[in-house]
Amino acid sequence: MFFQRCITPDCRAEYTIDERLYVCSRCGGLLDVERAGPLATDAASLRSLWRQRLSSLATRDRSGVWRFREFLPFDDDTRVVSLGEGNTPLYDAPRSADYCRLSQLKLKHQGNNPTGSFKDTGMTAAVTQARKLGARMVVCASTGNTAASLAAYAARADLTCAIVVPGGQVSHAKLAQALDYGAKVVEIEGNFDACMNAIRDLSRDDSVYLVNSINPFRIEGQKTVAFELAEQLGWQMPDHLVLPGGNLGNSSAFGKGFRELLASGLIDRQPKITVVQAEGAAPFARFYSDHETDFVNEAEPKTLASAIKIGAPVSWRKAWRAVSETGGSVITVSEQEIADAKAMIGRDGIGCEPASATTVAGIRKLVGESAIKDDESVVAILTGHLLKDTDYVMKYHSETLVGPDAQQIRGRFVNKPMRGQDLRNFQDLQD
Ligand code: F0G
Repeated sequence: MFFQRCITPDCRAEYTIDERLYVCSRCGGLLDVERAGPLATDAASLRSLWRQRLSSLATRDRSGVWRFREFLPFDDDTRVVSLGEGNTPLYDAPRSADYCRLSQLKLKHQGNNPTGSFKDTGMTAAVTQARKLGARMVVCASTGNTAASLAAYAARADLTCAIVVPGGQVSHAKLAQALDYGAKVVEIEGNFDACMNAIRDLSRDDSVYLVNSINPFRIEGQKTVAFELAEQLGWQMPDHLVLPGGNLGNSSAFGKGFRELLASGLIDRQPKITVVQAEGAAPFARFYSDHETDFVNEAEPKTLASAIKIGAPVSWRKAWRAVSETGGSVITVSEQEIADAKAMIGRDGIGCEPASATTVAGIRKLVGESAIKDDESVVAILTGHLLKDTDYVMKYHSETLVGPDAQQIRGRFVNKPMRGQDLRNFQDLQD
């Protein structure tokens, strides 16, 4: 019922669903999973079926990914590897909205997943496929979150897991997760892009399965977030969906999710997808402003938002399709803007890790340029939990945060811990 197809327009080579491939063996292009033939069920029946599953006690029904399994390339009797991912909250965020000069803003918090990031929605599908293919080992390159997520799902599936990370550049929280879940952690000299190259060589072995977002099954799992979001919004799409961009798997997944929802009549229009990158790690934003030229990687990406410190995003072609099809854009924000937006998201009682805050920083910038109007509806995707990088938070609030070019970040929303405060002056704290 499902098959894999190369996305390169003049190739379009097809492969069966169980071929262990990451890119097209004919042209090296990225692969999509596609359905052969039309969907058997209509939109109204699907909506009510998915709603009913929310009250079920079965693992597959309770997972926010497998609940939408009519759109996933697996048979009903597949043994799924699940940690109860998805079903994440869609919050109103009045302070962040005000900061962006919008009348309202919604934040979908993918940090509320089992390992604290959006990666879990893709990992449940990719590790399920790994087990189905009989892989003995799963591997990935990572800036930290993919590593933590893969380590957890591999542990659940009883598979050996090896992850390759840029030495000294991954937050302690993420590394701690991977170690505790039992993954073999290899730190190498160099950045994420060097890790990605190293891992590609490893995955030529047949018993090894690569689960970076170049793997189309990761994208299949992650696309269900578009379904969950549509359901939470009563199937009415917002004008804009804004998300951070690093390796560009998430933007690709949202693009695919909305495209499939539209084609099945579940929604009647797609939101404009806007991708936000950190100024010092922005090859996709550069390509967006001049897409007549070739895509140029960033040799030395720089940002304190370590999750998106990526110069050679593997999925840029799919992400480009998502942005251009929906009429969205790709923009950059500065380290200062990321830091302040992050603190503002915290003030809404929500919080997130630095990479996620590019969204609110980006929305503020787009409203300032009138690219988003104040009465338009906007949803931002927060990709990781506040506790993923507490070192950054503590530095921001103690005014010791220093950017990648040795620039001092002057936090506008600093909340310094008070040491030795005389609590007899308790009144002062209430102001
Ligand atoms: N936000 C967070 C918190 C991330 O961890 C990542 C990517 C992104 C945004 C960017 O998403 O790559 O799909 O464009 N982290 C990867 C990792 C690269 O290894 O954990 P993307």
